[in-house]
Amino acid sequence: MTTAVIGTGGIGSAIARQLASGGEILRLSSADKESARTLAAEIGRAAVVAVDNRDALQGAEAVVFALRFPVLKGVMDEIADPLTDKLVVVPSNPVGIDAQGNVSRLLPAGQSSGEVVAGWLPAGARLAMAFGTMSAHLFESSSHRSPESAVLFYATDDDRAGEEVERLIRTAGFEPMKVGGVEQSSRLEVGGDLHELVVGPAEARSLIGEA
Ligand SMILES: NC(=O)c1ccc[n+]([C@@H]2O[C@H](COP(=O)([O-])OP(=O)(O)OC[C@H]3O[C@@H](n4cnc5c(N)ncnc54)[C@H](OP(=O)(O)O)[C@@H]3O)[C@@H](O)[C@H]2O)c1
Repeated sequence: MTTAVIGTGGIGSAIARQLASGGEILRLSSADKESARTLAAEIGRAAVVAVDNRDALQGAEAVVFALRFPVLKGVMDEIADPLTDKLVVVPSNPVGIDAQGNVSRLLPAGQSSGEVVAGWLPAGARLAMAFGTMSAHLFESSSHRSPESAVLFYATDDDRAGEEVERLIRTAGFEPMKVGGVEQSSRLEVGGDLHELVVGPAEARSLIGEA
């Protein structure tokens, strides 16, 4: 199947590599195309560079918005129409980094990124907050873990989105586990209790239940 990856920086490139390793066809897009071209060359025949963000969605069942939080809404607005029948996967953490490298949350306490992003999408788009729970390095080193797969947590309000994102998570070499609806996505973010964890299914289930 085909997935668009918009944003081919740190996490977008890691997600694309892992999806391609599981057999997914990718359509890549980035701001100036250079990082998308470099990544496509590395991945090989499974990846093509789209003309622009809208073109990336052509023939894709799903789209991963691997973008920094402040640019997400603008790109979603730019390509809103073709999102209406797609799985929309968002790994973005609602954080900013200042010139000194200090990380701060961009949303008020108590507001989850999933709820905010859901409000930016057109009706019919199926949102899953996923693939942003680990740093890119940890994500790649934990995929296809053996003998027991590592869990990748996700949050969604939509049953069909849940099935679709579970397929992508398995394709990337992880065991999917739903945390809850999009209001639970703050647990997955930087600073959340399920962020940067590499655990198997049994431990993951008990962690979900502990909250
Ligand atoms: N990096 C990680 O380890 C990691 C892990 C988990 C979650 N996250 C989250 O994922 C999000 C992205 O992080 P990142 O580290 O991958 O950021 P990044 O390395 O800066 O990559 C951002 C990507 O967005 C692209 N981009 C910017 N504006 C665009 C536009 N208008 N249209 C299309 N593409 C555009 C950039 O294109 P160019 O390449 O052309 O500049 C770049 O490829 C953040 O919210 C972060 O919190 C990151």
